[in-house]
Amino acid sequence: MTDPRLQALQQAVPELRLTTEAAELEHYGRDWTRRWTPAPLAIALPATVEEVQAIVRWANENGVAVVPSGGRTGLSGGAVAANGELVLSLERMNKVLAFDAVDRTLTVQPGMALEAVHNVAREHGLVYPVDFAARGSCSIGGNIATNAGGIRVIRYGNTREWIAGLKLVTGTGELLDLNRGLIKNSSGYDLRQLVIGSEGTLGVVVEATLRLTDPPPPTNVMLLALPSFEVLMRVFAEFRARLQLEAFEFFTERALEHVLAHGAQPPFAEVHPYYVVTEFAIGDEAKETAAMAAFEACLEQGWVSDGVISQSDAQAAQLWRLREGITEALARYKPYKNDVSVRISAMPAFLAETQALLGDAYPDFEVVWFGHIGDGNLHINVLKPDGLDDAEFVRQCEHVTKLLAASLRRHGGSISAEHGIGLVKKPYLDSTRGAAEIVVMRGIKRVLDPNGLMNPGKLFDPD
Ligand code: MLT
Ligand code: ZN
Repeated sequence: MTDPRLQALQQAVPELRLTTEAAELEHYGRDWTRRWTPAPLAIALPATVEEVQAIVRWANENGVAVVPSGGRTGLSGGAVAANGELVLSLERMNKVLAFDAVDRTLTVQPGMALEAVHNVAREHGLVYPVDFAARGSCSIGGNIATNAGGIRVIRYGNTREWIAGLKLVTGTGELLDLNRGLIKNSSGYDLRQLVIGSEGTLGVVVEATLRLTDPPPPTNVMLLALPSFEVLMRVFAEFRARLQLEAFEFFTERALEHVLAHGAQPPFAEVHPYYVVTEFAIGDEAKETAAMAAFEACLEQGWVSDGVISQSDAQAAQLWRLREGITEALARYKPYKNDVSVRISAMPAFLAETQALLGDAYPDFEVVWFGHIGDGNLHINVLKPDGLDDAEFVRQCEHVTKLLAASLRRHGGSISAEHGIGLVKKPYLDSTRGAAEIVVMRGIKRVLDPNGLMNPGKLFDPD
């Protein structure tokens, strides 16, 4: 390690695992966006809170930017290090620190994978209900940084609902202990909530106390085939009125085609233009009858053309795979991703407008729609045609995102429902946040990170 700044860091923290190996720089310098070329200065893998504090103090002394890093499954470039930053990976800080049966909380280090959290909660007869397809590789610290949503928001809300407390090493190296697991705490600004969704721009989350809850009731999974886009929200309203929904997700025929090409089994003999996978509570006869009644009511109205209900856990998993496998099946096309939301009540008008907009704007590109329609959250993935230059593809998609951002502004929506702003959505932040609000956000950053070293360039450009 020839860089004198790194030598100084190693000297200040002799136990710190620090690497500048080319393969590691590449691995830790990128997330799932794959749009930027990784170019970090080095990778630090601290094992303790004190080491994290020492790294941040060193960064301030040496003017080195720090990119906090979890599982790097993000889709907005929030964990990309392409400008000589130090990547601070929380990977080794991945342990359970405490379980409290009375409070029903689990205190963990930030590098723990979401799936590992699920498993530990289950061992205690409880659940941590935030869930999504990247569960095996994403980390809880990253989930907090983006206020991750996923497939069960309709029932349980986003990550922010489940964080009872957290510890933050600020941009000056100070350790803040925020909310300390309290349910009631009316004592001023809730800095814990400020940190959730801040994308590593205010400091490094080094510990989190998660709320756990009772396991869900037994559920069934149903796959519905829909004849048109227009009926989607009607089907949702019908099912929501009759059932306790655990999930309500939609995808198009094109999305299914890609998942099938990736090895899944076709669910119906015929092809349908739109699909919904929904999970709902059963457990007694009345609930099972309600599910069939919802299905039949939709069938009668012509809103649903076919359906299949899971008869076993294995079949439920198979149906879920059709939805959860989409991201992986599309990855090879380097998709340009929009992740937008509006209030559910605004969804029908927004969907109609967006469908028309994208139909006109992308005559030559394949566009794949899916998402958490029950939360008002739509994922629009535009696939890069083979042979088209990456930069030109992004340029054309950015042009459409501008139009989409204008539409979101009119509908009071968000340019990033659950993936975060990062680098990808930065130019469009002002479609969702007012100018005065962004000034306040910048001011908050200056207080917690006066030298602007925590994940600079993410969320907004440096002052
Ligand atoms: C999903 O809902 O599958 C995720 O947000 C990932 C994605 O949008 O690709
Ligand atoms: Zn999603």
